[in-house]
Amino acid sequence: MTRTVYLNGDYLPEHEAKVSIFDRGFLMSDGIYEVTSVLDGKLIDFDGHAVRLQRSLDELDMAHPSSKDDLLEVHRELVRRNEITDGMIYLQITRGNPGDRDFAYPPADTPPTLVLFTQAKPGMADSPMAQTGMKVISIADQRWGRRDIKTVQLLYPSMGKMMAKAAGADDAWMVEDGHVTEGTSNNAYIVKGNTIITRHLGNEILHGITRAAVLRFAREAQMKVEERSFTIQEALEADEAFITSASTFVMPVVELDGTAIGTGTPGPVATRLREIYLEESRKAAV
Ligand code: PDD
Repeated sequence: MTRTVYLNGDYLPEHEAKVSIFDRGFLMSDGIYEVTSVLDGKLIDFDGHAVRLQRSLDELDMAHPSSKDDLLEVHRELVRRNEITDGMIYLQITRGNPGDRDFAYPPADTPPTLVLFTQAKPGMADSPMAQTGMKVISIADQRWGRRDIKTVQLLYPSMGKMMAKAAGADDAWMVEDGHVTEGTSNNAYIVKGNTIITRHLGNEILHGITRAAVLRFAREAQMKVEERSFTIQEALEADEAFITSASTFVMPVVELDGTAIGTGTPGPVATRLREIYLEESRKAAV
């Protein structure tokens, strides 16, 4: 089946969807994005992603090309047309095509580019990695200073994934001023005793939608949460570690820089949080 994608108001076969070479997303990485997961054909935390999308647009003085309700309809229509049961919907908005290359923003009435496409991931919630846990390495965080805006400038995170791959690991945790910021495409956590520790919000990390939900569920389950930065040494001495993102939900981390964390197997806190997250998110899915 040919994938149907969405481009500026049209549903098209993927090979017919074309964007200009002058698009600022292509020339300047002048674009933002969201990734929303789909389970059982329904959207997980659509409202959270819509709120963060608006925030990214506002921070960059970019116009919203659509309303939240219309965007929800496009997400649902793509799920229907592509018969997605489990997977993701990628959404990108760029500052559009000014017809030439220029560092200055184009006039405000330049139409933005809006693209959405689906990625099918059958059995996504039953990933074998949730049973084995993942391995991470630490690398320097060399990204720009506004990581709270979900921009498409993803070259350094891509380099980080390649560094992890070359080291035989699954991902990299990035370190700045001696403290972990986040994973290349996820938020990072350690567990010490009964306490879940994850970096506080700020410009240094993306404000994960999964993070917000998981911390809420953890507090509701009477778990202790500390939002503060932590070091690699603290992580090495932790009882457990895990990551969260829309595409991995809650995923245990069992090894850091070649050293086992805790027992070297997925811990009870990460495992329980994954169960709660999946159960509650499925209930609230739209
Ligand atoms: N990445 N931190 C970074 C740097 C991310 O790229 C992501 C998400 C997260 C987690 O955010 P959320 O829980 O809202 O997915 C944290 C997405 C999944 C991606 O780029 O594919």
